[in-house]
Amino acid sequence: SQENFILAIESSCDDTSAAVLCNDKVLSNVVATQHIHEQYGGVVPELASRAHQQNIVPVVHQALAKANIDKKHLSAIAFTRGPGLMGSLLVGTSFAKSLALGLGIPLIEVNHMQAHILAHFIKDENQTSPSFPFLAMTLSGGHTQIVQVNANFDMEILGQTLDDAVGEAFDKSAKLLGLPYPGGPLIDKYAQEGNPKAFPFPKPKVDGLNFSFSGLKTSILYFVQKKVRENPRFIEENLNDICASIQFTILEILMDKLKLAVKQTGIKQITIGGGVAANSGIRARLKEAENSLGWKTYTPKFEYCTDNAAMIGIVGYLKFLEKDFAAQNIAAKARYTL
Ligand code: KG4
Ligand code: ZN
Repeated sequence: SQENFILAIESSCDDTSAAVLCNDKVLSNVVATQHIHEQYGGVVPELASRAHQQNIVPVVHQALAKANIDKKHLSAIAFTRGPGLMGSLLVGTSFAKSLALGLGIPLIEVNHMQAHILAHFIKDENQTSPSFPFLAMTLSGGHTQIVQVNANFDMEILGQTLDDAVGEAFDKSAKLLGLPYPGGPLIDKYAQEGNPKAFPFPKPKVDGLNFSFSGLKTSILYFVQKKVRENPRFIEENLNDICASIQFTILEILMDKLKLAVKQTGIKQITIGGGVAANSGIRARLKEAENSLGWKTYTPKFEYCTDNAAMIGIVGYLKFLEKDFAAQNIAAKARYTL
């Protein structure tokens, strides 16, 4: 069968990434994470855009070198068109457009949220792919969605967050505890040593399959303020239990909605993606649901969960097969729904 080499570029938020795929196999997947934002406790759009400009050329060079591919052998260039930060998207979009024009090869636009879901179709000995239809839960610092996936490019959003994304809920809670950004992985770490039932936090009442996380953040804030007034050392003395309780509440919210989605659709195949899919608690809960509820769950390799260009590349390959190419005058799209 024919070998098609796709160069993929991702620059929607604060990771500059380039990957080379040969059909559905990843030859290289280089990610430059921007650490500059840590000192600000969140992504600063203007700084992200400038860092992308600095990183993009070396990152693409590295991806080509690791794949051992000369750019004249590329079949097409795929890039993230949106959703994301406009200044960040512009860097990848302009770069992809110029390179495709220079090389005289097709340009393929990719929706970042679709890519988080289709990352499950990367061929890798360490991951198995779901079959259609399946439910996909995308959990990241920017998004929280439950999507019904009927075919590669036939997806329907069943529910999404009305305010903060789940990753933001983790990061903002961590910030209230004085933990550095991004605090999600730290909450996960401390939670493993704590009692999840130590401090019960209320779950929001949201109809249907939508989510809300801003109320949780507020109740954690009031709880912590009150406890610290009584005992200034409350946080350090109870960090594991507080983290376990916060994580438990977030996971309950996610699992409740997932159960409802399964009930409504009758679909028991579930995939997760996005940075929060790295959480050890959610992974354990899904494993448990395989046994107790008969679900079949799929979690991609960690490097395909967080923002990366390999996932943009697999969508690029699937669109390449359909000759679904973009015009040279295509523009980045900060708001871009599935
Ligand atoms: O997908 P991602 O790398 O970037 C986007 O936001 O698109 O996701 C980053 C988010 C952050 O909020 C981070 O705190 C969270 O994923 N995260 C985690 C864990 N690892 C990363 N949250 C909870 N537990 C983790 N182990
Ligand atoms: Zn993402």
